[in-house]
Parts: sequence; C-alpha cells; structure tokens
Amino acid sequence: MSVNQSIKPVSLEYKENLTIGGCDLKKLAEKYGTPLYVIDELTLRGICRDYKEAFKEYKNIHLMYASKALCTSAVARILDDEGFGFDTVSAGEIYTVYRAGADMSKVLFNGNNKSVREIELALDLKVGRFSVDNFYEAELLNNIADKKGVKVDILLRITPGIECHTHDYIQTGQVDSKFGFDLSQVDKIVDLIINKYKNLNLRGLHAHIGSQIFELKSFYDEIEILVREIARINKKFGLKLDEMNMGGGLGVKYTEDDTPPDVKDLAKAVAEAMNKYSVEIPTIYLEPGRSIISTSGVTLYTVGSSKVVPNGRKYVAVDGGMADNPRPSMYQAKYVAEGVNVSEMAQRPKEKVTIAGRFCESGDILIENIELPELRSGDVICVYNTGAYNYSMSSNYNKVEKPAMVLVNNSQSDIIVYRETLDDLISKDSIPDRLRK
Ligand code: LLP
Repeated sequence: MSVNQSIKPVSLEYKENLTIGGCDLKKLAEKYGTPLYVIDELTLRGICRDYKEAFKEYKNIHLMYASKALCTSAVARILDDEGFGFDTVSAGEIYTVYRAGADMSKVLFNGNNKSVREIELALDLKVGRFSVDNFYEAELLNNIADKKGVKVDILLRITPGIECHTHDYIQTGQVDSKFGFDLSQVDKIVDLIINKYKNLNLRGLHAHIGSQIFELKSFYDEIEILVREIARINKKFGLKLDEMNMGGGLGVKYTEDDTPPDVKDLAKAVAEAMNKYSVEIPTIYLEPGRSIISTSGVTLYTVGSSKVVPNGRKYVAVDGGMADNPRPSMYQAKYVAEGVNVSEMAQRPKEKVTIAGRFCESGDILIENIELPELRSGDVICVYNTGAYNYSMSSNYNKVEKPAMVLVNNSQSDIIVYRETLDDLISKDSIPDRLRK
C-alpha cells in the first residue's frame, strides 16, 4: 500500500493522546497554539520513496513535486533532499525553492499567463524547463531569451481532450480549458518554433489532466495521446523529441469512500501505455502535488462554542475554518477528524455533530455530520489529510492571522512557518498622509 492510500500519517499512534512523529498532539497544541498545521516528515519521505521505488525501472524518470500543493522552504528542502525537482507556477514558488537550495536544473516553470518579470526571474535563476502554454507566451519567451542571449529548453503544454471524474474546477485536460494548446494547434506552434523562435529548444510535450484522480484509465489515455503526438511530430517535422511530462493528479484518501490507486499501479499503467505504442521516449516527467504532501499534513483545532438547532443538528465550532482550509466550501471536500485526547474520549458517549469554522459565513463548515465522542470546549481535534492545498489556498479572511506550521519527526517538533501576528496583518497597510489625524 502506498502512502496516498492512507487517510492518516504513517507515524500516527494512539496513546493516551494521539501522537504523530512521536509528538503528543495535545502538547503541540499547547506549545504552538491552534489552529496548527502539522507535517509528518516520515509520511512525506515515505511517499517520495513510494514514487521512486515504483518508477525505478525507468532510467530517465524525473520526479518533480508540484509545489502549488504546499510551498514552504522546509518542505522544498525535504523534497530536494529526496531527489525531487519542482513544478512551479509563479515567481514566488520559483524563489522559494531557489532559496531553499533546490537544484534549479530540475525545476519546471509552468502556467498559462507567465509575466515578463516571472519569465526573467526564471531565466536568471536558470530553471531547467519552461512548459510553454500558448502562442503569446512562445513569442514573449523567445523575445526575452533573445535579449538575454540564451536558448531555453521547453515543453509544449497540450490539452489532450480527456475528461476525468473529478470536480469541474480541478479538471484541466478537457478541450474547453484555459490551459495549453489543443491538438489542432500543435503543428502551427511546432512550425513557429522550428522556423521563427530560434531561442526556443523544443524537447517534448506536457499535459496535466486534472487532480484527485482515481481512475488509472485516465492516465493511460493521456499517455497514449502524448506518446502518439510525440511520434507524429517527430515524423512530420523530422525532430527527435524525447521528453514527456504527464503532469500530476494522483488522488489521495480523504475519507473511507476514496479509493486512490497505489503508486505502483500508476507506474504499471505508464509502462503498459508506453509499451503498447512501443515508441522510445527516454525521459518521463511526473509532477504530483497532492499525493506527495496531503497525507503528511493534519490540522489541529480547539473546540469552542457549540449549539443544537431545532432540527436536532449539533454544531461544534472550532478556532479555524475556511481561511485555513477553503476546500470544503470551495469543492465540497470531505475530511475526517477525531479528538486528540484518545483515552478521555473513549469514556464519552458518541454523537453526530457538524464541525463549523469560526469565519463569518454560513458555508464555513469543515465537516458535516461526523460521529465522534462528545466534543467539549477546550478539546483539541485533529483533521486528517490537510497537507495539500490548505495552507496554499489559505487567506486572511476576517483579518485572522494564518496558523503556524510545524514539522514533526523522532519526537521532535520544529516550526517551519511562524504564526502570523496582528502586526503582520497590518504590515502592508498604508494610510495616506492626508488622512492622518
Ligand atoms: N501539474 C499541473 C500542471 C497542475 O496544474 C497541477 C495541479 C499539478 C501538476 C498537481 O496536481 P496534483 O498532483 O496535486 O493533483 N486547489 C485544488 C487543486 C488544484 C490543482 C491544480 N493543478 C484542490 O484543493 O483540490
């Protein structure tokens, strides 16, 4: 079983209180306050090894972490240490991984509307590959590279026209998408690169079909299209493209209803799709985000108020919610949680509750109708599988400070993101002189 098939971090233990990485979660909550993001290093390194092991047969496999899932300096350090490169989509992500000491030749710059400033930064920091998304970008990148006197290795992002079963907002490979060249535009851009954009060096194709995908068939279909398209381009234009980036997208297990495939089975599907078309594409890039970081993350919250409404539903409110985890309100995402005070909880009667956030919107519900031992004010709860796209998409809604993040391992906990302070919240504000008292 690979790590993405588990709801909870691999080092989780049920003692008097829950522990992760040998750290008592109740004590972590006392020491660092709540809400608190906790990242388990063992789980993170575990999934990195699952990927490396599953794809070890491939000589030229480039594993890149899609840093949009969670981009902090310490996380980047660990991924670099595990030999991963990075899929980045902004100056901020490029800068973070650069400052964390990443091997920049293993960094890909991706995105549908890269700015001049971002392209310049990426070139100055010598990212290994650009994934060129559209005609406008190809011309822009070529001009900037020309001015700098450099030649850029690129992949072309294509939309393979695959619909996969996931939330509409996180589907990206369908034809009606803002990302990439559709297949009817490929010849035109290849022709432009060969004949006009002399500073672009085309190496291969890139696609990403969506996120939280459970069906291996979708990946199989995607690879089939990529491989066929590469073979076709090579033949038609006399090129030797030899790189294929199949994106990310492998799902994780947020609840018992989720059935993500094993990383090994993903690797098998890749092998089968490649063998079927017996083309030689020595270099394969993978850029998983969620499946790398999600399971290693949990969020701790403290229970505050609660109320029972006339229809009998009981709301239990915690000290975080949609600003630190917007996924339930954005995507109807489901999570599971439990109290960290395990032995104490075991004595309490069970009840069905709805865990509400503290933000001023009725939609700020973290978990609807979960059965748990009675929760009381002051209890700390642990929400599982919050490593991916929680902190990344967090906000200061209601002018609330963003939580801290700690890394746990070997009974040690270290801050990797400091909790914001009230002064942080106004640190970028400015009052024009004419309004001053
Ligand atoms: N590569 C590309 C080009 C992508 O657009 C993405 C994710 C990935 C790789 C990584 O996909 P993953 O392995 O994480 O599925 N905020 C949403 C997810 C958006 C995903 C965007 N692209 C969520 O919270 O579910």
